[in-house]
Amino acid sequence: MPELAFQQCIHPDCAATFAVDEVLVACPKCGHLLDVQYEWDRLPVPPSLGAIEAKWSRRAEPHCFSGVWRFHDLLPFAPAEQCVTIGEGQTLLQRAPGVARYAGLDPSPDSAGGLFLQYEGMNPSGSFKDNGMAGAFTHARLVGATRAACASTGNTSASLALYCSATRLMRAIIFIGSGKIAYGKLSQALDYGALTLQIDGDFDDAMARVKEVSQQMGIYLVNSVNPFRLEGQKTIMFRVLEALRWQVPDWIVVPGGNLGNSSAFGKAFHELHQLGLIPRVPRLAVINATGANTLYDLVELQGLRWNDGGPDERLIGQFYHDMNANNRRASTIASAIEINRPVNLTKCLRALAWCNGVVREVTDQEILDAKAQVGADGLGCEPASAASVAGTKRLVQEGVIAPDERVVCVLTGHQLKDPKATVAYHMGDREMFDEVLGSRGVQTAQFENSPVGVANDSEAIVREIRENE
Ligand code: F0G
Repeated sequence: MPELAFQQCIHPDCAATFAVDEVLVACPKCGHLLDVQYEWDRLPVPPSLGAIEAKWSRRAEPHCFSGVWRFHDLLPFAPAEQCVTIGEGQTLLQRAPGVARYAGLDPSPDSAGGLFLQYEGMNPSGSFKDNGMAGAFTHARLVGATRAACASTGNTSASLALYCSATRLMRAIIFIGSGKIAYGKLSQALDYGALTLQIDGDFDDAMARVKEVSQQMGIYLVNSVNPFRLEGQKTIMFRVLEALRWQVPDWIVVPGGNLGNSSAFGKAFHELHQLGLIPRVPRLAVINATGANTLYDLVELQGLRWNDGGPDERLIGQFYHDMNANNRRASTIASAIEINRPVNLTKCLRALAWCNGVVREVTDQEILDAKAQVGADGLGCEPASAASVAGTKRLVQEGVIAPDERVVCVLTGHQLKDPKATVAYHMGDREMFDEVLGSRGVQTAQFENSPVGVANDSEAIVREIRENE
């Protein structure tokens, strides 16, 4: 009899299965990515939205409080009492009228459409990664791992370091590119006591090395090639739906880097639909930065599709071959998504197929302008997160998203993660602007909010406040 949960190769021609307690980051038979799958019929009680919601009344219990494990019935790969939590997932879905207006959507408070921000910056380490880390740590505990590693543009490493220090379950080993990480994120890894290895290269180099080294040394890998991490990230969408009283929005818009989130979201909706818990799936929009636009190029310019599990591997191979030949490196102010070789590319293609998805690219200028609008509407975010809003604005302009549709943008990381770009944008200091942003092709700060210099004198200060009222 098959186990309730198992791992399975995503390639339909292979579809090999493996037990949950095997530590794998790719199919050992064909090299493709793995999913965690469930024999839903074998659950003692089928998942129900009511049973999930009822857990909130038991929130004094850590597994009911956790915004990940409250949804345990929808990711039941480990016994509930063994699931690792540090209180992740207490995040908020908030209507954002100012951002809606900016993007060209209906700003009225009782509209059936509108723009909502899913603010994942409220997680313990300040980004959505904690959802996935709760999943990966639970699996790591099941298999008795003692060391965990990741390559990171900063947030995965901050999350891994925090989970290691908070749970004492494993030692954190972090691979980062040189000079590529925002200080907010680096400071977390250092403070939480992780072994931090600065590789002489970028994220794509660090990712390649961490895969080799973790395999060689038997270190547990928590990058999003780990299918248990993506199980945790499904819950971001469960919380969005819960906050909307299980009314499916028209669009989910998410920044695309390593493509773990988009892959996890597609799986979440596909499973909910198959379980009969939602009547339809929303459309998915994945937003690249123009300086790191592999998905956009392959999908929108070259027509790459999931193709029932048989995407054109030749096209992908040729793309990376050309990238190598031209030594093309990712470059964007949104350092979190400065990634040219997304490890979940094929899984994301599948999510796009399941959710009738689209991909867009946005410039650093668009990202920073959108970010200022998010801040002005009450939920600050780091640059990468604002790609979702900039992408929404583009899609509305193109007529792909209709002005009366309901759109949820995922704000993946906290505003304080990366203050440098924000300060350079707002300060009105041309030298700083040119140094930090000008080199990225950013030319204006349309929503600049610079500090006002004033004498050390109460009267002068009062005058200044009056003038700015
Ligand atoms: N937004 C933020 C704030 C991120 O940190 C990341 C990824 C993404 C978006 C992209 O998400 O990879 O699921 O497509 N950060 C990774 C890291 C790569 O190492 O912290 P994705």
